[in-house]
Amino acid sequence: MQINDVLLSRSERLVFQLKQLYLDNGFRSYRMSKFEEYDLYAENKDFLVSDNVLTFTDTNGRLMALKPDVTLSIIKNARNEADKKEKIFYNENVYRANRNSLSYREILQTGIECFGKLEEKDICETIRLAIESLRIVSDDPILVLSDLSLSETIINRAGLRNEKQKELFTILKEKKIHELEDPATESGLSEEAKGLLKKLIRCNGTIEETIPWIEGLCTQSGYGDSFIRTLKTLQNEGLDRMIRIDFSLTDDINYYNGIIFKGYIPSYPDPILSGGQYDRLLKKMGRSGKAIGFAVYTGSLETNAEKKDSDDYLNIALPKGRLGENVYKRFAKAGYDCPSMEEDSRKLIYEDAVKKIRFFWVKPTDVPVYVERASADIGIAGSDVIRESKAAVYEMLDLKTGLCRMAVAAKKGFEDDPGTTLRVATKYPRIAEAYYQSQGRDIDIIELNGSIEIAPIIGMSDVIVDIVETGRTLKENGLEIKEEIMPISARLIANRSSYEYKKELIDRLISALSEKKEERA
Ligand code: PRP
Repeated sequence: MQINDVLLSRSERLVFQLKQLYLDNGFRSYRMSKFEEYDLYAENKDFLVSDNVLTFTDTNGRLMALKPDVTLSIIKNARNEADKKEKIFYNENVYRANRNSLSYREILQTGIECFGKLEEKDICETIRLAIESLRIVSDDPILVLSDLSLSETIINRAGLRNEKQKELFTILKEKKIHELEDPATESGLSEEAKGLLKKLIRCNGTIEETIPWIEGLCTQSGYGDSFIRTLKTLQNEGLDRMIRIDFSLTDDINYYNGIIFKGYIPSYPDPILSGGQYDRLLKKMGRSGKAIGFAVYTGSLETNAEKKDSDDYLNIALPKGRLGENVYKRFAKAGYDCPSMEEDSRKLIYEDAVKKIRFFWVKPTDVPVYVERASADIGIAGSDVIRESKAAVYEMLDLKTGLCRMAVAAKKGFEDDPGTTLRVATKYPRIAEAYYQSQGRDIDIIELNGSIEIAPIIGMSDVIVDIVETGRTLKENGLEIKEEIMPISARLIANRSSYEYKKELIDRLISALSEKKEERA
């Protein structure tokens, strides 16, 4: 064992190797302060992962922030010489709110920024360095690559209104091809535009596999050939094996443009590297030229050093109860049965070592959590549960079972008085909030975990936002539907990293399930 192995933690060793890589490629080290004036973040909120920024007032009375991001500070403070190229690397902590709680985390990032007078070869070099960075971390990395400007061209070309464009970007981001039909019909999209969008959503594979599709997309949409050139350069450099093209990788188009990418390693649920071109941000900050960069989340690798090894099982989370049992039958009919499951109904994990399938029976609302964390590669959950959880997962198939609706209900005869705050009892606070926000209605949410119908009966709330299946519970409690919010059905969701590593297994399952006749729960 070398002395470094004893003295340095895993992430410290990785940082050392990454810094060496960037130095060897002509990047200079850049050190910055932990703080920035808050205005910088207030003016560029869309560029940040989260709106939550830790602030404090300094001794001069200025509102300061603990850096939630590195790129903004570098662009703001670095030299601005339009005809020069800046190549910078850093190793810095950023401070961000946890996705699902109010606490903040210190996250160590190691990365590069390259901006100013850039050429195509600089873009390719950055992508190559992203792959080399990933290879320092893992023997089997995948870099998912997309061209945001190409997706934008195709979506813009469809001629949609602003909010419909946003809807389409969400459909693309979550691979919800089954939800394309409605906005496409409402917006009067041509068959050609719809076909292009479908191609864009479905595209996933190596450069070699996808380049004919991408050439088709570029020609049909009138997009130039810069992306194709970049892909061919990467292919010639022998990097194709570690690259996957997927346009579901999208980001904020107000700031990013052109190539964007995320890096995955086996059995790790989230990307450990993230980057892309951000010429628009550069321009907004009064700088000329182009910019590209990436960050490796070196700090996260420390906490996950003990993570389980990748396995070749397909791990499936099913919701306990009626929906799960119905869906399992459908899996079984499609050839994904697990005989031990029928013998013992109290266990929570079942494995079929021959078929390499593992089922987890979990609480319905927990399915998106298991999938987002990649403890399950895929899962089945109602669209209500998925929307409420806001989990960052792919939603790949509408199973058209477990059909019901999300609705506003109240006591018979109830009339909403817009002059008062509406008291809303619900198990779905995010859905209720979003629905009433879209109507500009002031509400007070009362979050409950079940038997919601009681709330308006005893006067604790004015209305409820809840699922209605047969309508029996409402009827027997003297309530009625006032407004329908959305239809609900069971969806198959997939972890984004699992999809890259187990694409064939997941695609095969999806196609087996899709071929089966639709059933009702
Ligand atoms: C759900 C929902 C309604 C009921 C609707 O409750 O919250 O109460 O089903 O079904 P119906 O229209 O067929 O009557 P769930 O059974 O999940 O129990 P809960 O009240 O404990 O949430």
